[in-house]
Amino acid sequence: MRSSTLLLFGATGDLSRRMLLPSLYGLFADKLLPEDVRIVGTARSKLSDEEFRENAIEALRERLPKDFYNEITARKFAARLSYIPVDATTPEGYDKLAEAIPIEKGVSIFLSTAPSLFTTVIQNLKRVGLAGETVRLALEKPIGSDLPTSCEINDAVAAAFPEERTFRIDHYLGKETVQNLLALRFANSILEPVWNAGHIDHVQISVSETVGLEGRAGYYDDSGASRDMLQNHMLQMLALVAMEPPADYAPEAVRAEKVKVLKALRPIMPDAVQKDVILGQYDEYAGELGKESDTETFIALKAHVDNWRWGGVPFYLRHGKKLETRKTEIYIQFKCVPHSIFSNVDARMDPNELIISIQPTENIRLKLMTKTPGLDRGGMSLREVPLDVTMEGAFSDYRRRIAYERLMLDLIEGDPTLFVRRDEVEAQWAYIDRLRASWLTAKMTPDPYTSGSWGPKASTDFIKSDGREWND
Ligand code: BG6
Repeated sequence: MRSSTLLLFGATGDLSRRMLLPSLYGLFADKLLPEDVRIVGTARSKLSDEEFRENAIEALRERLPKDFYNEITARKFAARLSYIPVDATTPEGYDKLAEAIPIEKGVSIFLSTAPSLFTTVIQNLKRVGLAGETVRLALEKPIGSDLPTSCEINDAVAAAFPEERTFRIDHYLGKETVQNLLALRFANSILEPVWNAGHIDHVQISVSETVGLEGRAGYYDDSGASRDMLQNHMLQMLALVAMEPPADYAPEAVRAEKVKVLKALRPIMPDAVQKDVILGQYDEYAGELGKESDTETFIALKAHVDNWRWGGVPFYLRHGKKLETRKTEIYIQFKCVPHSIFSNVDARMDPNELIISIQPTENIRLKLMTKTPGLDRGGMSLREVPLDVTMEGAFSDYRRRIAYERLMLDLIEGDPTLFVRRDEVEAQWAYIDRLRASWLTAKMTPDPYTSGSWGPKASTDFIKSDGREWND
């Protein structure tokens, strides 16, 4: 059933201002937000409807591209908004919510609050009747900080909302190019036959960021790169790259295939951790934080998916803050030709590469070897040439959407395909918990690296020692 109310907890917070309200505006402006849908914001601040609307308009003005923001459209959109102040930690406010929201017409509740409030909020929602069959619940990460705490939250959710009405958000799944991985793999016949250990040498998944702590010191120092990015976004991308073809694009079919990959990840044990994992911390981190810390702001590792398709193919994952450029990319290197017929010296035989750039540019590039023009004698000189598909070029009338636009619409319409199922989150935590326990056993601490570099030197050396290099 479609929801006619979207209830946003944490409606005055940062995520709401930067992502959720602008995404809802985008849907509204494109006439994709169903006409009967009303958005009710709630947070602790004592705002009137009018004040909340004005704040929302100000956020849209700040966040949206100038050529997309339109004052008249923004005011029409704001007319769909209302606000009910609720202190999520005390029971009183929830009764007001229950009175104001017509649950028989369907409700989607989005929790963009501190995870420490999840359990209290959920229990109160249930108490006031806001967890019935017509109500769905969406949760932002982090869902726990390890497997036991994640199970605790998932149990509290399950006591009020069954799995089919629980929508766990991983905003990377809302990104066009991430979804495009499924199209690329399963809507083309030429890739799938070579998408395996017989033809692929290795895979790299890199998410490099130029930003640092961004005012989230408390959260970040408790999480580090492994829990903040690897546990969720990066493992989800890995699952999409490595999964088997689902029988159809039904939510359970897609999610069942992803979870098989997550469960097939080889645990990184203490004897492998020093060789296969590099931790780093940017040089300004302790200064920004105001204290010494062992939290990793960079992680690189070699993962293995232990199944028939991927036996022996390393997946190198790398993520860090304060790196040289902002770039999210999936890089697939194929094996070299089994034998070269070109024996002359300039006949370089580079392996084919497929590079899927997710951001800041969205493009797909396949590198092929070609003949360099010329009248070669005694052989042929070869060079690598890219076949490039830029999304902007191929879809010039396409507006680059915020990942949450897709996710908010799917939530309202009740399509869970791009949301993370409980068993996926728990498999992701099991992998991360093992990894962290191993590096603690091995007494590893992060290597310092210069802000604006590509991370600690050890991360370059570790892939080099396998005879490979990062695609920088
Ligand atoms: C969030 C992390 O989940 O993703 C942030 O908590 C990170 O630390 C962000 O910066 C990256 O998202 P995006 O869409 O900018 O790549």
